[in-house]
Amino acid sequence: MTTIQNPNSEAKQKVFDLMLAFVKSQCLYVSARLGIFDLLDDSGEQSVDSLAEQTNTDADRLYFILRGLAHVDILEEKPGRIFAPTEASSLLVTNKAPSAGHLAMHLIEPAQWDAWKVLPEALEKGVVPFELANGKGVYPYCYENEWSKDTFIKAMSFLTDSQVEGLLEAYDFGQYKCVMDVGGGQGGLIASIVKRYGCKGILFDLPDVAHTAKDYIAKRGVDPDVIEIKTGNVFESIPQGADAIVMKHFISAWSDVDAKKILANCKVALPADGRLILLQSFVPDIDEPKIEADGIMPGIFAVQINVATPGGGWRTKKQFQTLFEESGFKLERTIRTSNSLSGMEFSVA
Ligand SMILES: C[S@@+](CC[C@H](N)C(=O)[O-])C[C@H]1O[C@@H](n2cnc3c(N)ncnc32)[C@H](O)[C@@H]1O
Repeated sequence: MTTIQNPNSEAKQKVFDLMLAFVKSQCLYVSARLGIFDLLDDSGEQSVDSLAEQTNTDADRLYFILRGLAHVDILEEKPGRIFAPTEASSLLVTNKAPSAGHLAMHLIEPAQWDAWKVLPEALEKGVVPFELANGKGVYPYCYENEWSKDTFIKAMSFLTDSQVEGLLEAYDFGQYKCVMDVGGGQGGLIASIVKRYGCKGILFDLPDVAHTAKDYIAKRGVDPDVIEIKTGNVFESIPQGADAIVMKHFISAWSDVDAKKILANCKVALPADGRLILLQSFVPDIDEPKIEADGIMPGIFAVQINVATPGGGWRTKKQFQTLFEESGFKLERTIRTSNSLSGMEFSVA
């Protein structure tokens, strides 16, 4: 049905906003990558000329980018081409702790962008866009490129840091003697669990990530000897020794076929009374709200995961439950936190 065109309709604004959403993303990306948010955070407001000089860029072209960011309230523009930091730009600072700036740089980095460019061809062929564009998967790509690796690891650590408190409030890990985080990245989650509940921990991930984990865990104020760091590939085997396995934003990268192989290895690793705890954002069902309390829209994030990885993206609760039940696990309870991270606890069926 074609409606009569209202030049200022909400629908038209929505379409134009979406059409130019990539411009906002690119302004965010290039500014984070140039360290503009860091410079403003370190030294306060300054002219575009000063920012251009420090970042070795053309001041007139940079001005367009920064003014664009001011128009969407990421920066504040003052007379005389001066730019000041805002609460939003402080979230994008990348020269201190892992931040939303690392997540923005990871999601918008050129290799990711290339995946979107081949989307029509990937859809026709039914292949993973990132792999079509880059000739390899997102993990090998990141781990072979120093900047991408560092940015990816910090992006994941940022996500963990921003969600872990809500999880620890919602779920009692004190019932376990030893918890293993499979695909646990640098160990932020397992360090927080061990610190809060006094249990033992195992971190299991690929060697590329895990070798930086000891330092990271120590920096979190946790005795690194309380957490055993084990490296390997989930498709080969998963170490034994834990009575609970957690997997946060991990299984979502894999297709059902791959996920079932990983779950079979989890089953071998766990004792008969062990627990498998899936930690995820779930895509809402058709009749559920589309946006979480922390502003995340799982259905949109799921598209990004699906473009970048072979996985089913972020599945719905029902889809995850079916996947786990078909892999020999039984749902014991669901976990709701105060943010977009939810969970399900499974026993071995
Ligand atoms: C999306 S990240 C999630 C990291 C962490 N769980 C979090 O929520 O921040 C996926 C993690 O799985 C790890 N990973 C990928 N393939 C793996 C494999 N075959 N075996 C073990 N770990 C793997 C990656 O190195 C990465 O740390």
